[in-house]
Amino acid sequence: MANLLVFPDLPSLTQRAAELVLQTAQEAAAARSQFNLALAGGHTPRALYRRLTEPDLADHFPWSQTHIFWGDERCVPPDHADSNYRMAYEHLLRNVPLPADHIHRMAGEDPPEQAAQRYQAELGRHFGGRPRFDLILLGMGEDGHIASLFPNTPGIDDPDRWVIVVPHDSPPPPLVTRLSLTLPVLNAARRLLVLISGVSKAPALARVAQGDLSLPAARLRPVEDDLSWLADADAAAHISSAS
Ligand code: 6PG
Repeated sequence: MANLLVFPDLPSLTQRAAELVLQTAQEAAAARSQFNLALAGGHTPRALYRRLTEPDLADHFPWSQTHIFWGDERCVPPDHADSNYRMAYEHLLRNVPLPADHIHRMAGEDPPEQAAQRYQAELGRHFGGRPRFDLILLGMGEDGHIASLFPNTPGIDDPDRWVIVVPHDSPPPPLVTRLSLTLPVLNAARRLLVLISGVSKAPALARVAQGDLSLPAARLRPVEDDLSWLADADAAAHISSAS
């Protein structure tokens, strides 16, 4: 499996991920005076977000040139326990000097299709057309989903939609409608980092390594070919050296 980096545990994975995020931010800011980052939700990236607030990294981070977006959001208010915005705010955003207008939140509190269309318009304004993120952070579910692109999600690779509504009424929880960037937007990013931790992810990661395209994670094919899988030993336990 190309670009699979295996770490003994989540803390060591988190440290490397933080170094890669900082490096990507500094490169983007130097090259284009802007760093456009899309965050992942869920539990795995929380330690990474906290790590980025620590002075040895935060003091070298180009916050004034950084714009924060989300790869997906649950259709709940921003103060809801299931909100990816709330998770990022608590673990990262409230502790770093980001200009308020650099935080581009998906409006989970709004009617989903309206929120999706408005976010797509905001992306268009910000990027001047099709969005091309400098970095998109992703986690992966036990079913091989990324962002809120689940197996059999309709519209996952619609070339005309950058943000879709995903009705979600079956595991994994939370069973709530979501908003998600589509696969073409993920694959247009300059760099993708997928953070995967825990033995529960091992079967799906093995299927991704074998190229099982029924899993959305296996369909990550960034045009710049800059895709790294950061897994801890538990998540990589089923990966054979051959794959
Ligand atoms: C979400 C996330 C989702 C997450 C995976 C892995 O909104 O739920 O964006 O794609 O990254 O489900 O979640 P964990 O990190 O909690 O295992």
